[in-house]
Amino acid sequence: MTFDFDTVIPRRGTRSMKWRRYPEDVLPMWVADMDFRAPQPILEALEAEIRHGVLGYDFPTRELQAVVAARMESLYGWQVEPEAVVTIPGLVAGFNIAASISVQPGEGILVQPPVYHPFLQVHRNLGLVRQDAEVPPRALDEHTLRYQIDFSVFDQAVHSQGARTRMFLLCNPHNPTGRAYTKDELEALAARCLREDILICSDEIHSELLLGETQHIPIATLSPEVEAQTITLVAASKTFNVPGLFTGFAIIPNPQLRRRFVYEVERLNMHTPTLGHAAAQAAFSGAGDDWLRALRAYLTANRNYLLDFVRSELPGVRVTAPEATYLAWLDFRDLIAAGRLPERPAQYLLEKGRVALNEGADFGPGGAGFARLNFGTPRSQLEEGLARIRRALQGR
Ligand SMILES: Cc1ncc(COP(=O)(O)O)c(C=O)c1O
Repeated sequence: MTFDFDTVIPRRGTRSMKWRRYPEDVLPMWVADMDFRAPQPILEALEAEIRHGVLGYDFPTRELQAVVAARMESLYGWQVEPEAVVTIPGLVAGFNIAASISVQPGEGILVQPPVYHPFLQVHRNLGLVRQDAEVPPRALDEHTLRYQIDFSVFDQAVHSQGARTRMFLLCNPHNPTGRAYTKDELEALAARCLREDILICSDEIHSELLLGETQHIPIATLSPEVEAQTITLVAASKTFNVPGLFTGFAIIPNPQLRRRFVYEVERLNMHTPTLGHAAAQAAFSGAGDDWLRALRAYLTANRNYLLDFVRSELPGVRVTAPEATYLAWLDFRDLIAAGRLPERPAQYLLEKGRVALNEGADFGPGGAGFARLNFGTPRSQLEEGLARIRRALQGR
C-alpha cells in the first residue's frame, strides 16, 4: 500500500494553532504537529464514534489499557500489566501530576535543557526548585552538532541550589535535540537515580517517530528496580498526528506509586475525551502501523534533505541530525557572533523570511542562538521553508 505525504492539505482557515498564529504570508514550521492526515483506520475509528452520534462521557476501558500494554510488549518485550496503564489528558498534565505526587515544595526537579519548554515550568506550577543539568552540544564538523550528556554536569545538578532532588524529568527521545538515548546513557542516568532515590518520569511521546535505523529503549525496561521507580509517559498523539485529542498514558508498574498518581488524577477530575480513547484504541492496536512505517521513511528523507540543504546552502549554520522526532535544531550562534544575525534568530527569520520557527531561547539554558524547525510537512513545504531561510540569511 502506498501513502501520500506529498499532497499539501490546506490548514489555513482552520482552527489550527500552527497555521493561525502568524499572518497569511508566513509559512509556519513551529509547534509540533505534522501537516499530514492521520492514518485511515484511526480516522475510521473516529468516524464510527461520530456516526453513533452520542459523544457522552467515556471510561477508558480495560481493552484500551490492554492494547497499550500489549504494544509495549510487542515493541520492546516489556511486559506490563494492563492495570499499570493510566489514561491522562496529555503528557504535560502527566508529568505535572508525577511531580506533584513525588516532589514537595522546596524540593528539586531535575531537567536537561535545552528542552521542551513545559518541562521548565513544572517547578513554578508546584513551588519546586528547578535543577538544570544542561546538555552541551558538540560540533561534529562545521555543519553538524550532536548532544551528548555530560554526567559530571548531571551529578552537579543533583542536590544543586540546596534542594534535595526528588524527580528527574527525562525527555527521550529528546525535544529539541533529536537524541534517542543509547542503553549506556540510559543505564548511567538510571544508576544515578536509583542511588539517589530519585523518581524518573520519562516522557517518551516521540518514541515511535524513529528515523533511519534508530531504536528506542524505554528506560523502565533496564531492570525491575528502575521500572519500580519510573513513570513512563506515552501517547499515540505525535506518532499518528492526533495531538489535538489530548489523550496519553502513564505506565506505572509500581502499585504504590500508581495509587498516588491515580488518586491525583481523580482528585483533579482529569477526564479524557471519548474521541481520544477511540483513536488510541485503534492506534495502539497497530491499525496504523503500515502508515507509520511509510511516515518514518518520509520523515527520514525529509531529515536528510534538510541536512544536505544546511550543509550546501546555509553556510555558518549548524544542525543536529535528529535520530527521532520531526524537529531539527538549528544553530545560528556563529552568525550571531560574527554580527551577521541579531540575538533572536527565529524572530529575524520571521520578519525577513516570513517563516516561523520556535525561538531556541524558549527552550531554556543552552537554547539562545538556536531555532527549532518542524519538518513534519510535505517536502514541497519543507523546500519552501528552507528557501525562505536561505533568502533571509542572504539578506534578500
Ligand atoms: C516532549 C514532549 N512532551 C509532551 C508534549 C505535548 O504533550 P501533550 O500535548 O500530550 O500534553 C510534546 C509536544 O510537543 C513534547 O514534545
